[in-house]
Amino acid sequence: MQTAKIAEQAGFSGVQIHAAHGYLISQFLSPHHNRRQDQWGGSLENRMRFLLETYTAIRAAVGKDFLVGVKLNSADFQKGGFDESESVQVVQKLSEMGIDFIEVSGGNYESPHMLAAKDSTRKREAFFIDYAEKARAVSQAPLIITGGFRSQNAMEDALSSGHLDLVGVARPFALVPDLANKMQNGTYQTVQTDRIQTGVALVDKKAGAMLEMNWYMTQMDLIGQGKQPDPKLSAWKVLLKTLWENGKAGLSTGRA
Ligand SMILES: Cc1cc2nc3c(=O)[nH]c(=O)nc-3n(C[C@H](O)[C@H](O)[C@H](O)COP(=O)(O)O)c2cc1C
Repeated sequence: MQTAKIAEQAGFSGVQIHAAHGYLISQFLSPHHNRRQDQWGGSLENRMRFLLETYTAIRAAVGKDFLVGVKLNSADFQKGGFDESESVQVVQKLSEMGIDFIEVSGGNYESPHMLAAKDSTRKREAFFIDYAEKARAVSQAPLIITGGFRSQNAMEDALSSGHLDLVGVARPFALVPDLANKMQNGTYQTVQTDRIQTGVALVDKKAGAMLEMNWYMTQMDLIGQGKQPDPKLSAWKVLLKTLWENGKAGLSTGRA
């Protein structure tokens, strides 16, 4: 509601269908999760039906002047999961159906590639840049790539490649809330976002992704309270807070 109001004041209205990161629509798309044997499972055509019907119903309700976009995984990065070649086919279909924008991410809470599993991927910054070119080849819809961007240089390089139209940025904003202003006035170059770790290998391996999410949510809490983010916030403090508030489930990334 609030978002719609802000969007309206900014001169646009729209919705984004979340079909990524292991949420419901993403589960329909994934052959790893979707074991249905009716018209909603099996072939890609069947697995993408839920997304396409959701899009069609929203479009019918809001009309053609209202922005309807989608957030889609380039891949789930799971054995037997939704992969790049299937994702490109979904992009092509949505584009043919008139989707207004496509945001690309990847992974889910069982395989959290949206936050980057490997250090080498983090170093490279733009996690899903290689996929952009493939999506661009089959789609005219404005393309957004989200994940890994830290430096203004990496964002500008990605945009100048011509394969995408916008970059999505999440964690840097939790540490530099006025990042966009800083870029405009030339006082931003990059921000360091080290992996959030306790130093205990087992804890970091099992709960690292959720710990990282919770660490950044704590930063957003601070901003919400009118305070400054705290880049030195202890991972242990966040771990204990999470366990205190949610028990072990607060650190769990998937089903048993
Ligand atoms: C605290 C936090 C909350 C997030 N919540 C969402 C969410 O609600 N929906 C979503 O699609 N992605 C969510 N993400 C993932 C981001 O949208 C993004 O894909 C990811 O952080 C990678 O981008 P970055 O490298 O710029 O952080 C969240 C990430 C963080 C750190």
